[in-house]
Amino acid sequence: MPASRERQNGTRCAGPCTMVIFGASGDLTKRKLVPALYNLVRQKLLPEEFSVIGFARRETSSHEFREQMRRNIHEYAGDDFDADLWQWLESRLDYVAGAFDDDAAYVRLAQKLTEAATAAGNSNVLFYLAAAPEQFGPIVEKLSRAGLTADSAAGWRRVVVEKPFGRDLESARKLNIELRGFLDESQIYRIDHYLGKETVQNLLVFRFANGIFEPIWNRRYVDHVQITVAEALGVEGRGGYYEEAGALRDMVPNHIFQLISLVALEPPISFDAEAVRDEQSKVLRAIQPMSPEDVLTKAVRGQYGTGSIGVRRLPDYRQEDRVDSLSNTETFVAMKVEIDNWRWKDVPFYLRVGKAMPRRLTEITVQFRRPPFTLFRGTDIGALQPNQLVISVAPEEGISLSFSAKIPGATMRIGNVDMDFAYAKHFGTKPATGYERLLHDAFLGDQTLFQRADMVEAGWAIVAPVLDVWTALTARDFPNYAAGTWGPASAAELLARDGRSWRAADQ
Ligand code: BG6
Repeated sequence: MPASRERQNGTRCAGPCTMVIFGASGDLTKRKLVPALYNLVRQKLLPEEFSVIGFARRETSSHEFREQMRRNIHEYAGDDFDADLWQWLESRLDYVAGAFDDDAAYVRLAQKLTEAATAAGNSNVLFYLAAAPEQFGPIVEKLSRAGLTADSAAGWRRVVVEKPFGRDLESARKLNIELRGFLDESQIYRIDHYLGKETVQNLLVFRFANGIFEPIWNRRYVDHVQITVAEALGVEGRGGYYEEAGALRDMVPNHIFQLISLVALEPPISFDAEAVRDEQSKVLRAIQPMSPEDVLTKAVRGQYGTGSIGVRRLPDYRQEDRVDSLSNTETFVAMKVEIDNWRWKDVPFYLRVGKAMPRRLTEITVQFRRPPFTLFRGTDIGALQPNQLVISVAPEEGISLSFSAKIPGATMRIGNVDMDFAYAKHFGTKPATGYERLLHDAFLGDQTLFQRADMVEAGWAIVAPVLDVWTALTARDFPNYAAGTWGPASAAELLARDGRSWRAADQ
């Protein structure tokens, strides 16, 4: 039975396996991967025969590696730290020091894997590439030459590839070719942590496990869709990476397009990986490519200048560490995306993504068409708001539906009310990194929530014209929004031109 179907029938513990983390001394390992493993231990989803091998250039012993991870998990878990659970995981952590291009290091790794396989009775291995993107190809090549990537009767071999997956369409294609030179597509897990978020996964359930939403989920009833991903932080010491990437590359072809594809896809015939990913891929391929002229009217870029977020004062982006003092890199993007198919023709999807916004907020708003107003002539029509369905992804997780109601009293006055569902209140959920579900799926061999090669390439193809125009034309007005505001004025104008506005974040 495919893993995805088994998962629907109840969560099951992963089978014996060793996870090898390339880039184990980096931020991702301590901030996300190890905490996610700890949460999986808590949920009893890791098997007895489980182990982790950290692999990185830094000369660190296994003992020191364990200590570092322990210090960090204390911080992450806070009052929730459970010494026994951690001990279970810590005793399974090991470390190999070595450069990613050093053959001898792969020999040492192979030895460790053989020891782990002997202890576990099989040789299932998940390689996790939390390294710099230019190292993805060379690492896989070294692994393959060391004979470590071939599936066999003794065990499976899988490779999780972090983002960014390339920096444009051409480099993403090249990387896909490189990886598939050594691995089968079924062994490649391109991770996007947005798909690990509960509310994002819930989109499929919300749309297809309820009888009342799907019939109105189309151009006849929906006026437009808005997606906001706002962060209240600047680049936080990641200037080197961000200066090369920018907000568009960092967030849009990956995270945002995942959200759009799940809001817009047709019902898949099952929850099997290929069925779901086929439908997501169709959405991406139906997005109209922009002409260079379109880019000027349908895409907006911004860069933050000095300003305050609460009590914190942020400098100009251009003054951040490892950022060019004349930088042309955007820290904000807004775009109007059009999906040219029967369900969504003429329903714009507006997206905005930015650093240094007034607060952290990730949400999807589906705004429905206004009803005819004839009946309410003579009343305060201005108070009539269209229905909005708001799917909150962060920091709150939940769904809220707004509708009009009569304000009690002798006259006909209309107000807006919300029906709210909050995950934390209803299910009492514990904080998670978003990586728990994805790692667990990779251990089980379920690729549903991972990106297929064609999806990654389709995402890059959509943003390619925007990247081209923005690279060719220097933004003369940068910085054009102050830290602590909702982006440049042109972002509001993008919607105002269509007679619409962004949902107020404090609504
Ligand atoms: C990452 C980006 O992929 O996602 C970061 O590289 C960004 O720049 C982060 O801050 C946002 O993730 P989340 O889960 O906090 O919305």
